Amino acid sequence: MNALVLHGPNLNLLGRREPHIYGALTLSEVDRLIRAHARLRGIRIESRQSNVEGQHIDWLQRAEGEGFDGVVFNPGAFTHYSIALRDAVAAIAVPVVEVHLSNIHAREPFRRESVIAAAARGQISGFGPDSYCLGLDALLALTRGVRTKPPLSRRRRGARTPRS
Ligand code: DQA
Repeated sequence: MNALVLHGPNLNLLGRREPHIYGALTLSEVDRLIRAHARLRGIRIESRQSNVEGQHIDWLQRAEGEGFDGVVFNPGAFTHYSIALRDAVAAIAVPVVEVHLSNIHAREPFRRESVIAAAARGQISGFGPDSYCLGLDALLALTRGVRTKPPLSRRRRGARTPRS
């Protein structure tokens, strides 16, 4: 499975940004943990961060064309008000799992609402960097281990890609 991991605004500041809420790990360290987990599960991942709403819309729209089977998406503060991102999540065929480092439901009232959650396949919130790993596991469950390409040995024998 190929998964796209998207980090929203201000997540580039992880490690320095309110560490009592978001933890002490930098974004690169979080990405390293996600990559290690993905490797264990046999998932190929690509991780991207942007502070720009439109960039995330473009990445979501292109995800299928770029060969991704699913997206693990931490929309940051866009979670709470971006109808444009919600529409992008709703518009695409690849499954999107919304994740948050902190438990947004245990925080300020304005953070308790996600305008994106109803368009996503589900939401994982409050497990620190493990939220992303759980998000990858959720994608794996959703796609039931669909492989975009059969292993070389099967391709040579002319076998077909297993159905999900
Ligand atoms: C966050 C929660 C959001 O409310 C906040 O704006 C963030 C990070 C999280 O991962 O806990 O930027 O998405």
